[in-house]
Amino acid sequence: MEQEFWQARWRENRIGFHEAAPNSLLTKHFSQLGLEAGHSVFVPLCGKALDLDWLLSKGLRVTGVEFNQGAVEEVFARLGLAPEVSRQDGLIRYQADGLTLYAGDFFALSPAHLGRVDAVYDRAALVAVKPEDRQAYAAHLNRITGTARQMLIGFDYDQSLMDGPPFSVPGSAVQALYQGSHEITLIEERAADGRVGERCNALEQAWLLEPLS
Ligand SMILES: C[S@@+](CC[C@H](N)C(=O)[O-])C[C@H]1O[C@@H](n2cnc3c(N)ncnc32)[C@H](O)[C@@H]1O
Repeated sequence: MEQEFWQARWRENRIGFHEAAPNSLLTKHFSQLGLEAGHSVFVPLCGKALDLDWLLSKGLRVTGVEFNQGAVEEVFARLGLAPEVSRQDGLIRYQADGLTLYAGDFFALSPAHLGRVDAVYDRAALVAVKPEDRQAYAAHLNRITGTARQMLIGFDYDQSLMDGPPFSVPGSAVQALYQGSHEITLIEERAADGRVGERCNALEQAWLLEPLS
C-alpha cells in the first residue's frame, strides 16, 4: 500500500528527498507567487522540509499534510513550537502560531481543513505520486485549494533509466494535468543534484501555475 511504502522509507531513514536547506528554486523565485505576510500557503506532501520554516519566516500562514507523524512532530520541535493536537476526520492536526500540519492522507483533506489558500507550494509532491494517481492528485489539489496559484518543483528525466519515486513529470504531463485550470510557465530548469541527478541526468524544473480567469 502507498502509505506503508512511505512509512517504511521514514522508518528506515531512506529520505534522500529531504534537503539540508530550503530549496533554492523556492527562495530565488518566491516573489513570483505574489504573497505577502499574512497570506496562506499550502504545502502538500510536505515531509519535514526546511521550506516550511522558510515560508513561515516570510510571515505566511503555512499549512501542510504528511503521512508520517514523526516528521510532523519534528518540524514543530525544530521550530521550538508546542502545538495543539487534535483529531479531525482521520487526520491528526498539529497547530501552533502560523503553522498547521496534518498527519495523515492528503486525499482525506477537505477545503474546510485548509480554509483560504492563497498559494500552493509543491516540491517533490507531484513527483512522489504514482503516475496513475496523478490526475486524482491534481484534481483534489485544485478542489481543496480553490485552484490557487502554485509553484511546482519537480523532475524531468528518462523514466527508463530509473524507477520512481521521484517519477519524471515532464512539461507535457504538467500541461495535461493543469492546462484546464492554470496558465503554466517554466520559471527555471537546472541539472538536478543529489541522487536523482547522479543516476539519470535529470532536470529539476520550477513551474509557475496561475489560475485561468
Ligand atoms: C518525496 S517526499 C517530499 C517531501 C517534501 N515535500 C520535501 O521536499 O522534502 C514525499 C512525501 O510525501 C509523503 N506522502 C506521500 N503520499 C502521501 C499522501 N497521500 N498523503 C500524505 N503524505 C504523503 C511521504 O511520506 C513523503 O514524506
